[in-house]
Amino acid sequence: MPAGNDRAVGIDDLSVYVPRLFLPLAGEFSTNRGIDPGKLIKGIGIERMAVPDLHEDAVTMAAMSLLDLMRRARLRPEEIGKIYVGTESSLDEAKAMGTYVIGMLEKIYGKGSFQECSTVEFKAACIGTTFALESLSFWAALEEEGKVGIVIASDVAKYPLASAGEYTQGAGSVALLVKKNPRLLALEQIYGSFTRNENDFFRPMGCTTAVVNGKHSNQCYLDAMQGAFDSFAARAVRKGAITPGKGECITDFIDHLLFHIPYPRMVEYASAAILRHDWRQSSRCSEIEMELGTEPQSLGYEDLGKYQAADADYVRRFAKSQKFLQAFEAKVRDTAMLSRQVGNIYTGSIYLGLASLLEMQKIHAGERLGFGAYGSGCSALFFSAIVQQQAGSVPLRGLVKRLQERRQISLHDYELLHGGLMEKSVVMPCKEFALVGIDHQGYRLYEYVE
Ligand code: COA
Repeated sequence: MPAGNDRAVGIDDLSVYVPRLFLPLAGEFSTNRGIDPGKLIKGIGIERMAVPDLHEDAVTMAAMSLLDLMRRARLRPEEIGKIYVGTESSLDEAKAMGTYVIGMLEKIYGKGSFQECSTVEFKAACIGTTFALESLSFWAALEEEGKVGIVIASDVAKYPLASAGEYTQGAGSVALLVKKNPRLLALEQIYGSFTRNENDFFRPMGCTTAVVNGKHSNQCYLDAMQGAFDSFAARAVRKGAITPGKGECITDFIDHLLFHIPYPRMVEYASAAILRHDWRQSSRCSEIEMELGTEPQSLGYEDLGKYQAADADYVRRFAKSQKFLQAFEAKVRDTAMLSRQVGNIYTGSIYLGLASLLEMQKIHAGERLGFGAYGSGCSALFFSAIVQQQAGSVPLRGLVKRLQERRQISLHDYELLHGGLMEKSVVMPCKEFALVGIDHQGYRLYEYVE
């Protein structure tokens, strides 16, 4: 991939917005729900859930991340050709979320300042933003007037109180600046995809919380990820981007693996599944079998249930093997750093993983990143990007400090906010966009509060 020239298209910068309120999972929450805190912190991997205040929603969060990105990159509205929004928390069945966002930004940059910028919403559960990025990158490659594109992910992950999904909630927005000659990541434009009709997670019209078949959603995620990875691997080889020698695997050519993060443990399950699958091409497979014993083969079992149980046991042992733990530590673990403090932000969570690596200064010029995005319903997309020479010059965001400065709320306040019963904001809005009302027709009114 050529670096530092106009043929490269990708992510130039990224900004993250997370609400100022959080609920710790250990303590009042775990006691009240009767769950061992060890399960939440270790078994699920989330310490704190971000909670939107009364005046916040997916639209205000999107506007906040975009404003931050524009300020960081010194972008003027007329330089932005398109804003694509990935969300599954849309507040309108017809009006594009980006139009509300533009309305808010025009309160700062002036009325009509975005009128030549087009905006559309992408809905595909947690993969919407990735499809938006894929589409926008092809537009950016053909753009000839120096305009840039923005992809925004914004979601409130919300499940019923006391359900198994509750402790994986979160909220936040990530905005990506997509352009030619990007400073951070050049996309290799190799996309491996997988799609299948599933009922793992959906939100019928009018429902504010999702319907989830939790364990089934984990399995759909893993099946789809493996399908998308295989599709990516075949395309990368056909295109000549990756040429594995004898005994080499595709993941040997990927320095960091970023998976969708509904909760941090899931990236462990995903990387175990993908690495086990990929390593079957190499001598590592026999080395691991020496440590763990032979992999169960479906042909050796008459009963499918017994084979599945044996295989699940083998995966658990594989995830504890020396070889896997080394690879996980080197390529995956750090991607979940911010998610542990935020929870699930649905379609932005994979890019929160990228923000984790950037804030920890873990990526270096020339490295290849592999992204495995997943959206329930279900689809997966696996794609790659190369870290650019200028990546180190992009200023950090101070996200860890910002997360430490948030306000802790009580279980009672969290439940009032969750149920829409809170009467006033926990922290009054200050220097931020806020929902100030909904008129008699259902049109939402937003302001920038000084
Ligand atoms: N200490 C440490 N770990 C513990 C523990 C304890 N006291 N108690 C349980 N655990 C571990 C379990 O052993 C398990 O780990 P393992 O897979 O290595 O065995 C892990 O915690 C999760 O527990 P489990 O009981 O399997 O999960 P759950 O019933 O709480 O459900 C989800 C988890 C993800 C299915 C559920 O939260 C959900 O439906 N979430 C929403 C949908 C979602 O995010 N889907 C993901 C794909 S998109």
